[in-house]
Amino acid sequence: MAAEMLGPARSCVSTMTALLVVTILSVMAAGEVSALQTGFYASSCPKAEETIYSTLQQLHANDPDLPPVLLRLHFHDCFVRGCDGSVLLQGSGTERTAPVNGRLEGFGAIDAAKAAVEKLCPGIVSCADILAFAARDSVKMVGGPGWEVPAGRRDGTVSLASEASSNLPGAQMDVNQLTANFGKQGLTRDDMVILSGAHTIGEAACVHIDNRIYDYPSPSGVDPLLPKDFAAKLKKKCRERGSTKRKFDLDSGTSATFDAQYYKNLAKRTGLLTSDQVLYEDSRTRPLVLESSNNANFFPKFTQAMVKMSQISTLEGSQGQIRQRCGYVN
Ligand code: HEM
Repeated sequence: MAAEMLGPARSCVSTMTALLVVTILSVMAAGEVSALQTGFYASSCPKAEETIYSTLQQLHANDPDLPPVLLRLHFHDCFVRGCDGSVLLQGSGTERTAPVNGRLEGFGAIDAAKAAVEKLCPGIVSCADILAFAARDSVKMVGGPGWEVPAGRRDGTVSLASEASSNLPGAQMDVNQLTANFGKQGLTRDDMVILSGAHTIGEAACVHIDNRIYDYPSPSGVDPLLPKDFAAKLKKKCRERGSTKRKFDLDSGTSATFDAQYYKNLAKRTGLLTSDQVLYEDSRTRPLVLESSNNANFFPKFTQAMVKMSQISTLEGSQGQIRQRCGYVN
């Protein structure tokens, strides 16, 4: 009798052990340590993802700039203390107050999405996960690919401006510096080239191109790589040095659509930031730029790289907390 009872229990334990081993091995094979799962909220808050999507879609109807803003917000979250929602925390000395985050937006949209899911299932969905879903949704809303977002991130409780300043890449970096910067986050040079493709949407303040149209170390002050007509357009729009109010499209021609045009522009030398154009100029990254110049090649690479970026140093299980309001620690 005792043996009969032990039998099924023992086989259940060994099945579970086998499952655990398979899971650990597959995580190791993928080179990742994250235990996030797709469909994480399937039973705890089944409508979470669709509610977030529809909330953002409604906001997008009145604010065409929302997708790039939200895509950038997730990136700035992940590169500082991992994807833990620390970029959302308010208060003096938080990441939001760092100069590099001076023009970050989209906080209101994340709060709206959080409020909508809190109504459905209070205290279940983390702000860090909402950022990851919102980045995916944003890409989809402007013609890009969709993908499954592994979830289960928990929210951090620490946010420091100094860490944002030291971890986020700068627009004047060369390929060595960009590679080192992404390397610190466990991302490869190829990941860096592909994630830079996010600049297929959105815009940059003119101040970020002063170094290319006013301060370049040449007699004219203009980066000789820039085609003359493009340099003239940049100067017309960015007519004074240092402007943070005036902006220029990161992806000339199709900056409201998620597509591979960004890479085609690099080959025409009409990339906007130094950190964009160097990807074509450097012989180590040029092949991937050329290969990514069509949607069929770019989209699957981008979704993979986003899934990887969105798992940087996540808090899981009993770590961190599920914030009640995304701007504040509970
Ligand atoms: C490779 C290193 C990168 C550098 C140096 C960089 C730098 C910048 C700069 C200077 C801007 C303009 C911001 C402003 O004017 O306030 C910008 C905008 C943007 N960045 Fe990046 N970025 C990089 C990588 C990324 C990555 C990995 C993503 C996302 C996966 C991303 C997404 C965006 C988006 C969507 C915008 C447009 C934002 C808007 O229109 O408001 N960037 N980036």
